[in-house]
Amino acid sequence: MHSHENTDDQANGLRRMSKQMVKVISVTGGKGGVGKTNVTLNLAMALAQLGKRVLVLDADLGLANCDVMLGLRVDKNLSHVLSGEAELDDVIIDGPFGIKIIPATSGSQNMTELAPAEHAGLIRAFSELKTPVDILLVDTAAGISDMVLSFSRASQDVMVVVCDEPSSITDAYALMKILSRDHGVEKFKIVANMVRSLKEGQELFAKLTRVTDRFLDVNLELVATIPYDENVRKAARKQKAFVDAFPRSPASMAVKSLALKTAKWPLPASASGHLEFFLEQLVQPQTDRGLV
Ligand SMILES: Nc1ncnc2c1ncn2[C@@H]1O[C@H](COP(=O)(O)OP(=O)(O)O)[C@@H](O)[C@H]1O
Ligand SMILES: [Mg+2]
Repeated sequence: MHSHENTDDQANGLRRMSKQMVKVISVTGGKGGVGKTNVTLNLAMALAQLGKRVLVLDADLGLANCDVMLGLRVDKNLSHVLSGEAELDDVIIDGPFGIKIIPATSGSQNMTELAPAEHAGLIRAFSELKTPVDILLVDTAAGISDMVLSFSRASQDVMVVVCDEPSSITDAYALMKILSRDHGVEKFKIVANMVRSLKEGQELFAKLTRVTDRFLDVNLELVATIPYDENVRKAARKQKAFVDAFPRSPASMAVKSLALKTAKWPLPASASGHLEFFLEQLVQPQTDRGLV
């Protein structure tokens, strides 16, 4: 029977994949335009400079995709892997500083609404991944879609990028509320972006914790304060990451210090450190997800 074959394939795939211990970090924010893609790519490159093997999964279907931002050419994406037309290794493109990128699927492919055969395909694809990976960074879309929620839930660390704007703060709050109440995520790493000073970053963090402490059962940590920096937009115009184009700019220095911290975050000793766990969580149907 078909379902049996799929189950066997999945089990075998998972066993092979369990050899790769990968740190999975999702970069979220709730709101668009807060700097998620910039944080993801620049952090990826700063981590690569520290010797980490980094894979970026572009899970944002918006216009400013990772490949577009870096001016990279994309032939195939994850949808070709799901349909069996390509291997995952063939879809991965090389970015600057040796980072690897899985380009966003074009169209509306929702990872949480895959057919069982596609689940098997995705897991098999990752299990056969030859590219060695230490850290998988997931650049999520704006909004609080099922896809954003499943990526965040499946990751070991959830970074929430916020700016000092009411809409960014309310969207970040709404995201953390749903993740904590319905998906068992209680720890969040806050990145204060586009702030004018360290102090503004700390005040932004204080604003956020005032509401979360009062209404949610969550634990927030301010992991980075990235200043507003004209070099970010200048780099974008050159289709380069700012850590590449302007390595000594204030934003670059902030991202590099975030990379130093991130590189030290320990891998959990449990099964959740394996890529298989990430994928299992990711492709689990919504109805199977109880509260942890
Ligand atoms: N620290 C910063 N300083 C100045 N501009 C920034 C900074 N971070 C992001 N930007 C700008 O904000 C816009 C949104 O960034 P982007 O990374 O695409 O956000 P998102 O992925 O959250 O939609 C871009 O035009 C980018 O150049
Ligand atoms: Mg983006």
